[in-house]
Amino acid sequence: MPLVSMRQLLDEAAKGGYGVGAFNVNDMEQIQAIMAAAKETKSPVIVQASRGARKFAEDLYLFKLIQAAAELNPEIPIAMHQDHGNSFETCKSAIELGYTSVMMDGSLKEDGKTPATFEENVTVTKKVVDYAHERGVTVEGEIGVLGGVEDGHGAGGTGLEHLTDPDQAVEFAELTGVDALAIAIGTSHGAYKFTKKPDGSVLKMDVLIAIHKRLPNTHLVMHGSSSVPKDLQDVINQYGGKLKETWGVPVEEIQLGIRNGVRKINVDTDNRLAMTGAIRKVLWESPEKFDPRDYMKPAREAMQKVVAQRMTQFGQAGHAGDYAPIAITEIAKGYANGTLSTQPLVAAR
Ligand code: G3H
Ligand code: 13P
Ligand code: ZN
Repeated sequence: MPLVSMRQLLDEAAKGGYGVGAFNVNDMEQIQAIMAAAKETKSPVIVQASRGARKFAEDLYLFKLIQAAAELNPEIPIAMHQDHGNSFETCKSAIELGYTSVMMDGSLKEDGKTPATFEENVTVTKKVVDYAHERGVTVEGEIGVLGGVEDGHGAGGTGLEHLTDPDQAVEFAELTGVDALAIAIGTSHGAYKFTKKPDGSVLKMDVLIAIHKRLPNTHLVMHGSSSVPKDLQDVINQYGGKLKETWGVPVEEIQLGIRNGVRKINVDTDNRLAMTGAIRKVLWESPEKFDPRDYMKPAREAMQKVVAQRMTQFGQAGHAGDYAPIAITEIAKGYANGTLSTQPLVAAR
């Protein structure tokens, strides 16, 4: 199956009332782990690469690996997505490579650190939407700012400092025409999200519900959605790691989100933890080993296990065969003739 439009994948998820995990990749083993999990659970899937990943792996290596994944798994719908694009140029280069979806994260300035103004965010996101939609490519925007810093990307802080304002979210969706919208409801990137088990008051699910009510046609995205399970932390620490005690986003909160318009759930940290734990275990127990396959194979299997579990929890499992891919050129026509419009039911102004 060719790579599919993320818009089609998310529209189908909305129809079926489930969420789709978007898993970050940097190398072949992570792509293989995701595809093995998708095959095992019969799931459609979003594979995403950050700017750091594209730099680490080199664009062509990474994109050819995704093409190999699509060729080897013709029964699985795969969308290839640019995670946290920081500029029009970053998104354009992903589209030129063949990505079927881009995130223009205009919530931060191009430095990926400083919060941008609403107007700056609208201007750059709209420019990306115009360019991408003409080519049938999906666009995710972000309004509000997440906490934490990953690979130099992020404003820092707790995740509660720049929550999304529902009025602004509606206005942003109206002005830009994004297909999907990442909102800040108290999550942050990385392993250190919460210093105690979060209860319902920590994550602002009421904000999410209010936004979904007013933007029923815009797919909501939860970033920073790793659950940072204790068992994955324990493996790392048992084999010489030094992680401080921490909590992530409970899966039940994500499932509440899915019942209220969340269609894309970003997970990276849990897979990093799983792979690192598996590698540490091999090297700790068998310090004489030096063949990378001896530790990369268990690492890949550990990631497959986490991804398959999330696919089941998010509800995408079993849905791979529900639909045939719509050609990207047809999707472009849908944007041009208005059938794929996401405009809010009630205008903001
Ligand atoms: O948004 C954060 C993702 O976990 C990607 O992280 O920029 O370190 O590749 P990265
Ligand atoms: P985590 O750090 O919680 O896995 O979040 C990943 C993410 O949001 C990627 O964009
Ligand atoms: Zn993110």
